[in-house]
Amino acid sequence: MADSAASATATPAAQGPEGAAAGPGGSAGPAAARRAQARTAVLWQAVRTVLDDSAPRDVLDVGGGTGGFAVPIAELGHRVTVVDPSPDALAALERRAAESGVPKEALRAVQGDLAGLLEHVEPASVDLVLCHGVLEMADDPAAGLATVADVLRPGGVVSVLAANRAAAVVARALGGHFAEARRALADPTGRFGPQDPLAARFDEEQLTRLLGDAGLVVQSVHGVRVFTDLVPGALVDADPQAASDLAALEAAVADRPEFRAVAGRLHVLARKSAA
Ligand SMILES: C[S@@+](CC[C@H](N)C(=O)[O-])C[C@H]1O[C@@H](n2cnc3c(N)ncnc32)[C@H](O)[C@@H]1O
Repeated sequence: MADSAASATATPAAQGPEGAAAGPGGSAGPAAARRAQARTAVLWQAVRTVLDDSAPRDVLDVGGGTGGFAVPIAELGHRVTVVDPSPDALAALERRAAESGVPKEALRAVQGDLAGLLEHVEPASVDLVLCHGVLEMADDPAAGLATVADVLRPGGVVSVLAANRAAAVVARALGGHFAEARRALADPTGRFGPQDPLAARFDEEQLTRLLGDAGLVVQSVHGVRVFTDLVPGALVDADPQAASDLAALEAAVADRPEFRAVAGRLHVLARKSAA
């Protein structure tokens, strides 16, 4: 898992989703792109380990948004479907794909959501599902993961990235919102109050149990954005070397339990049994 950002230099696809922070139109400046790369390098490297050894694969990015991952994966030669409820995000995805020169047949964009995946994707038809930043917005994460398991081929892999409850407690406390920090700690869904924009946050035990209940076998757990969400952006923007040093630091701590306990996001790879 180490050396992720530093070793990825050859092509835009090899560099990964550096424009993930750009938002619609992919207009991030160099500083925003460097910050985005520090945020996503560990995740991108983990996803690459699933795709590296393979011929073109069928990839589903549920909640794929503007294509920060979908487009670089299509650039690597895989067939990608993005299912997302936001028409604006899908329009931005199509612009990003066109600007990157991804052939139309390599990337399919569909308006839909996690609960309704089977309306758009055949059962047992996908080798890799990305479910990044979606479970914390879903009405029923357990049912959503069961649907993910349904669309995976035997032996297929899901990559789940979800908001970590402990990080919200730390972030609310550092912002001086101590009562909200205590609420996030005590609430079974990790929410800090009615004004919380997320429907749920998870800890490692909850997330791995949800995946197990869906019949998926956990392969690895990483902490993502251990430091990146905490350090002031100016410290990274001021010095181009700082972003790659930060990405290398994130890679160095990603699989250490004491750091992933407070990571901004938890990342899990889980496999559907081959039999
Ligand atoms: C935080 S963004 C993450 C985007 C992308 N996966 C990434 O990691 O950069 C969440 C995305 O999930 C989509 N979304 C929200 N609720 C959803 C649901 N119930 N099912 C599928 N996607 C959903 C949003 O439209 C948005 O594009």
